[in-house]
Amino acid sequence: MNSSVLKTASLDQEKPGAPIVLPSTHNLLAVDGGKPVIPQGFILHSRWPRIEPEDVEALTAILKAGLLTEMSGRGLIQQFESDIALYFGSRYAMGTNSGTAALHCALAGIGVEAGDEVIVPALSYIACAAAVLQQHAIPIFADVDPYTYNVAAETIEPKITPRTKAIMVVHLHGLPADMDSIIAMASRYGVPVLEDFSQAAGAAYNGRSVGGIGAVGAASLMAGKNLPSLGEGGILITNVREVRNRAASLKCFGEAIGENGRYSLIHETEGWNYRINVLSAAMVSRQLFRLDKYNDTRIASAAKIGSVLAELQGFSAPVALQNSRHVYHMYRFRFDPEKGGWPISADQARLALQQIFLAEGLPLVEFQNVPLPGHALLQRKQGHPWSCHQRNDISYSIADYPGSLDAIRHSLVVGYPAQAPLANPELVDGYVEAFLKLKQNFRRFIRIASSLPSAPPWTSPARLF
Ligand SMILES: Cc1ncc(COP(=O)(O)O)c(C=O)c1O
Repeated sequence: MNSSVLKTASLDQEKPGAPIVLPSTHNLLAVDGGKPVIPQGFILHSRWPRIEPEDVEALTAILKAGLLTEMSGRGLIQQFESDIALYFGSRYAMGTNSGTAALHCALAGIGVEAGDEVIVPALSYIACAAAVLQQHAIPIFADVDPYTYNVAAETIEPKITPRTKAIMVVHLHGLPADMDSIIAMASRYGVPVLEDFSQAAGAAYNGRSVGGIGAVGAASLMAGKNLPSLGEGGILITNVREVRNRAASLKCFGEAIGENGRYSLIHETEGWNYRINVLSAAMVSRQLFRLDKYNDTRIASAAKIGSVLAELQGFSAPVALQNSRHVYHMYRFRFDPEKGGWPISADQARLALQQIFLAEGLPLVEFQNVPLPGHALLQRKQGHPWSCHQRNDISYSIADYPGSLDAIRHSLVVGYPAQAPLANPELVDGYVEAFLKLKQNFRRFIRIASSLPSAPPWTSPARLF
């Protein structure tokens, strides 16, 4: 990357109708034969997670000691769980082998049973709906706000029925949802709130860590997350002993949990094996102490990209609320041709942006092209729980989620893989440079977009990224 590009790039977005000033060859878009920001044939990948030599040393010591299961490595698991509880300010923490498992345990922990309804955001990862189905409960979707990408009290409340037994709130991409109003509304109905903070470890709402605000929190510790394990992993946090104990029982073959919180070796109910790998847990303990520092890097990266977007009419940076700490697990920016006065559709703009940035060696991705209710799992509604509980009245139509559709149509996520670019300042500099090139070649962008089809993303089968 050549830093002189940044200095010589004109900061004037071309106005429609203004005479075309051809940029220097150096600033020509790569789709037009210019020099790509990232050298041709090379896509700059994020370096994540950061594994330091001391991490390797500590993990090797565990390997050599042969402490590999929750039974033999009990001390390490306890250490990991108390590190988590301390950081998130919760009384109990429980490791699992994935975020989906943690969500499943959390649902069982707060008393969700077969046939109950659980409210889930319409825009999230499929695991949120899958965990509800694993508990033989029925997902009911609430729409998200097209600017924050999060559910809100106003979108959740109309979905509450006498069968609603839990509300799952996802702090999508690292921005905390508005928990005060959600919890106030949920408590009027006596429904517990489960926070999925998979994408928001270290984010805060009114000074409190997200995940620890509702009745129970669950998160993925998959290696791409802000708080990464050695591969797969999950965590559940709560202040309520019964919630923890019911979750712990489901995690481990339905074993009864004694008064002291210990396993009894007596298997009383249906359960799974959701135990975490000790190496994964130990890795999380190590990463936890660097989480705030890494999140600060992401916040600084977001400010850098945000300042370029602020110069581009029609683009907007992710919403960051005054009372919260957004930790930018993903950086999802919006573009609104209507607001920018561009004579193209949002679908054309999205495709053109993807083509232009890909040619620069810097992908932009969708995260999800269809809201969850449109995914095959929900469309087919095969088997339980709908048929077992005579719930043929429930059908899922994406048209019922205009906020999610608006978000999907008008936004893109920086980077591939999308979870880590903001933790990599060198990658962020590349995106900044590419946005500056876009600005300088704005009329070209409009022309490229005009030749592209206007098909909404959800006309293709549901996919991730
Ligand atoms: C919001 C959200 N919830 C749940 C999950 C599932 O976690 P896991 O892959 O660890 O099962 C993920 C990501 O993978 C996620 O992003």
